Amino acid sequence: MPGTSVIGLQWGDEAKGKLVDLLAGEHQIVVRYLGGANAGHTVRVGASTYTLHHIPSGILYEGVQNIIATGVVLNPKTLLEEIRQLASRGVHCEGRLWISDRAHVVFPWHLEEDRLINEAMVVGEKLGVTLRGIGPCYRDKVGRTMAVRLGDLYRPALRERIVEIARVKSRMLSGWAGRPVELDGDRIYEEYRGYAEQLAPFVRDTNAFLLDAVEQDCRILYEGAQGALLDVDHGTFPFVTGSNSSGVGVSAGAGVPARWIHKTYGVVKAYSTRVGGGPFPTELENELGQLIRERGREYGTTTGRPRRCGWLDVVAVRYTARLSGVDVLAVMMLDVLSALDELKICVAYELDGRRLEHFPSHVDDLRRVQPVYETVPGWRCEISDVRSYEALPLEARRYLERISQWVGRPIALVSVGPERNQTIFLENGQSGHAQPASSRCTA
Ligand code: IMP
Repeated sequence: MPGTSVIGLQWGDEAKGKLVDLLAGEHQIVVRYLGGANAGHTVRVGASTYTLHHIPSGILYEGVQNIIATGVVLNPKTLLEEIRQLASRGVHCEGRLWISDRAHVVFPWHLEEDRLINEAMVVGEKLGVTLRGIGPCYRDKVGRTMAVRLGDLYRPALRERIVEIARVKSRMLSGWAGRPVELDGDRIYEEYRGYAEQLAPFVRDTNAFLLDAVEQDCRILYEGAQGALLDVDHGTFPFVTGSNSSGVGVSAGAGVPARWIHKTYGVVKAYSTRVGGGPFPTELENELGQLIRERGREYGTTTGRPRRCGWLDVVAVRYTARLSGVDVLAVMMLDVLSALDELKICVAYELDGRRLEHFPSHVDDLRRVQPVYETVPGWRCEISDVRSYEALPLEARRYLERISQWVGRPIALVSVGPERNQTIFLENGQSGHAQPASSRCTA
């Protein structure tokens, strides 16, 4: 099964980076296909911790090719910093990292726009965006007239284009800000030409590369970012990100037909977290939530914001697992719950006196639901040294079984700590990518 995808089933931060890292070595190509510098994937290898924003985690494996595909919105400055940081630790991207010339580029006006809109919109709850220009860049992509793709940076008339966009954006931003905002188009052009020169060795038509690769049966891992509940169409709109971050977005973002994605891992944190605004039915705004935050070190990788914490919500996860075509689950950060006497799983909602078993489509309804909980006993002992399912406390196994039953998918692996070896593989859903490389794959 050469095409595998990894999708977060909650609001992001499900520890996908660790799973991608575990799977990357079994693949020839790892593809990041959506989002941008809003993501922060943490991978811990021995004493080293790597935080990657754009670059796929496969970069840590020699011999793995890494693609930043068309659906990504790229901040060239941040990306170059990532490349430099990796190089300073002996990880070199040359010849192993390829960036789509179709990917859209984040410009200073996008960052300014994100900030101004976030400040200006005061009616109702704020989206709480990461301020990385993600929404504005996707908005320009859909709007087209003021969009710049990576490949455009190498074309003639770039200066005129950037100067023209900067002029129009200055007028727009001045209106939004209620004060003059001056964008210096010539300076931005010089800055971005510089980035373009440095990125030139990495830029190519990744659609062509990936279409060749799938037809040659290459083993490809599609690395999701954010989480399915943040999907712009299918998530908790408008409290979402700007892209299709559920499983249905893999194909469009990567430029690969869905028929080439053969196995999907749904990544679930053993509890729920959310950063930014929006309804969160199982949120624990109390000491228990604080305890989970501290034990799980639940502070944003990209922004450092404290994450909101709460009980696991299997109504939401069942929805996103089905939406994303999930085959097996990876349950992460189970060890964080070891301190608790009992655990609650939200198995249904109540809305206006009626029991709901499906995830509401409108955020106003989600705001009004009351969680219906199933309570299970906790295990009250540390499990971070456990390496087999059988050695887990009975209560921990029960908790996992209930998750699997409610979501309706088998569990393939359980993570009990950040290290690669703090992982328990379960027999019935194990990753199973052991087949040898196809001799036809030239990637
Ligand atoms: P944006 O992606 O910066 O536009 O932010 C939109 C919403 O998605 C905000 O609530 C962010 O906190 C959330 N978000 C974006 N990226 C991530 C992520 O990688 N992890 C968790 N939340 C994210």
